[in-house]
Amino acid sequence: MRSDSSEEFVPLSVPSLHGNEWSYVKECLDTNWVSSVGPFVDRFEVGMAAKVGTPHAVATVNGTAALHIALLVAGVQPDDEVLISTLTFIAPANAIRYAGAWPVFIDAEADYWQIDGGKLVDFLHRDCSWRDGALRNRSTGRRIGAIVPVHILGHPVDLDPICEVASKYQIPVIEDATESLGARYKGRATGQLGDLGCFSFNGNKIITTGGGGMLTTNSASMARHAKHLTTQAKDDPLEYTHDEIGYNYRLTNVQAAIGCAQLEELDAIVARKRRIAERYTAALGDIPGVTAMPEASWAFSTFWLFTIRIDATRFGSDSRSVLRSLERKKIQSRPLWQPLHRSRAHAGAQCGRIDVADELYQDCLSLPCSADLRDEQIDRVVAAIAEAQYGN
Ligand SMILES: Cc1ncc(COP(=O)(O)O)c(C=O)c1O
Repeated sequence: MRSDSSEEFVPLSVPSLHGNEWSYVKECLDTNWVSSVGPFVDRFEVGMAAKVGTPHAVATVNGTAALHIALLVAGVQPDDEVLISTLTFIAPANAIRYAGAWPVFIDAEADYWQIDGGKLVDFLHRDCSWRDGALRNRSTGRRIGAIVPVHILGHPVDLDPICEVASKYQIPVIEDATESLGARYKGRATGQLGDLGCFSFNGNKIITTGGGGMLTTNSASMARHAKHLTTQAKDDPLEYTHDEIGYNYRLTNVQAAIGCAQLEELDAIVARKRRIAERYTAALGDIPGVTAMPEASWAFSTFWLFTIRIDATRFGSDSRSVLRSLERKKIQSRPLWQPLHRSRAHAGAQCGRIDVADELYQDCLSLPCSADLRDEQIDRVVAAIAEAQYGN
């Protein structure tokens, strides 16, 4: 396998739009239903609820808005604390701040790179105590308002221990499933396992609406409240009266039309992503010091962003050198997110002992994995990684 820098640019992850997107969007334009209500919004909600396996789904303008609303309907109050993975894109931590609450960052585990349930349970048992009808952080006195496990990179979090402790202390669980649509934990879809699930359909997600989000839940009352809050909390269909502070977080019919078409393609897209992961994993197995993204025996991963871990000592070059080397060969790759306990945006936030997330941040690199990626492009990426070993 040889890499050739004269070849085309290989992006990290771009949409795959080969279904009914055109015809559904045209239908919106032809019927004048382009804005924040319309048949495609209802259809997309019904379709997502069916896919995720919850009776209810509420469309939102993006995944961050879904998380903000989920926190509110779960009852998170200003000055509560919310436990969340430190190794994630920043949006869920920001949403916690929008609700006036405080994130407490929990480390990742080394096996599947997800939030470490053991460390989370330890924090609740050792650092918190039950007082005034709630579990409270002993050092701050603040109530633990929710837990937000984030299923990163398309692989589910090991949720059973987290849901068990959450139920013991009556703490709602909000799954950030924005990166894991189509993934399953012990046979069940992510997004149906906690009290609420949140999804994103931005341009690099497994399916896209351009920008968009969805909240899923088994609770009819939470779904009703979520819909209410996303539509400015208007409480009369005719009169402009409002019973609380709401938000304009609605998804438009045009975006939902794209979403409906994309949802029809979801299973095929996931199958392609899994085939890409398989080919990468087989080819990278021969390169010392490079480990392909793992999949637990209890998991069905979508491999949303196919990611490798590079042991710099064994490989002879670190992840950032590989990134630069790929860049020179017109191949886009990306490190994981700076762990949030190190982020200036959340300076001063609490965290337990964190080491795995820091190591993963240092070692990992996400590789091109668009659903339409061709075999020869995968081979080119693998060849470029092998060459990077020698500083090429
Ligand atoms: C883990 C995670 N949470 C939340 C979001 C926010 O989604 P959006 O960009 O649709 O607001 C994203 C993606 O951007 C994400 O990766």
